[in-house]
Amino acid sequence: MQPRHVAMIMDGNGRWAEAQGLPRTRGHVEGAEAVRRVVRRARQRGVQWLTLFAFSSQNWGRPSDEVGDLMQLLVDFLRDERQEMLDNGIRLTAIGEREFLPLPVREALASTEAATAHCTDMRLVLAVSYDGRRDMVRAVKRLTQLASQGLLLPADVSERQIMSALSTADMPDVDLLVRTSGELRLSGFLPLEACYAELYFADKLWPEFTGEDLDAAMATYTARQRRFGLTGAQVAAAPA
Ligand code: IPE
Ligand code: IPE
Ligand code: MG
Repeated sequence: MQPRHVAMIMDGNGRWAEAQGLPRTRGHVEGAEAVRRVVRRARQRGVQWLTLFAFSSQNWGRPSDEVGDLMQLLVDFLRDERQEMLDNGIRLTAIGEREFLPLPVREALASTEAATAHCTDMRLVLAVSYDGRRDMVRAVKRLTQLASQGLLLPADVSERQIMSALSTADMPDVDLLVRTSGELRLSGFLPLEACYAELYFADKLWPEFTGEDLDAAMATYTARQRRFGLTGAQVAAAPA
């Protein structure tokens, strides 16, 4: 089976640049090229959901020049890729604390979301100013508000209700989670949504990541047996 939802932690832009004596921002520029390649390949491969970790809540702590460059790159990406998204039936949405984003980024996100809202072949989700725990806090606030209005009783609280209070409410669980740059951690990315994801760690730095690397990650996924707590024999006997 191929993954329906692929999520990627695009890491290593800075190290890629530094290794060549270039400013970190050059790594982010090359990283944006890798995003283009990977989105294109995912679309060709029939991936239905692709979620990309573009900027974490913790990334606000980076030097302000780097943050500014990343925000500008995001605006440029959304502007430059809009036509290709439309041509390929790709709907773009974003998760994360968008009220923290500079106005031009919020505007670019809103207008790209609106322009691609009718596209149904693939969903591209950008996680921007995202952190899973912070998203959970928001969800709990929403639920406790309902409870305080008498609209949610303790007996009604369910997995489904909790998941649907997250910013990822309309998204399926992550099947395959990829991180580049050899780091073996999740950095707060989709903790509940990826709780049964297959993990794939690539040593390549994100600017070097290619469509073939995505193919390799997807092939690894396909070769794994997802047992969801059952035995291998049970899974093998179950109808596909
Ligand atoms: C990923 O690359 C991009 C963002 C986090 C925005 P990094 O900038 O984290 O690159 P390294 O990890 O410093 O090499
Ligand atoms: C995670 O990368 C966030 C993104 C890829 C946008 P970082 O480079 O910020 O993660 P840590 O802090 O090293 O784990
Ligand atoms: Mg990093």
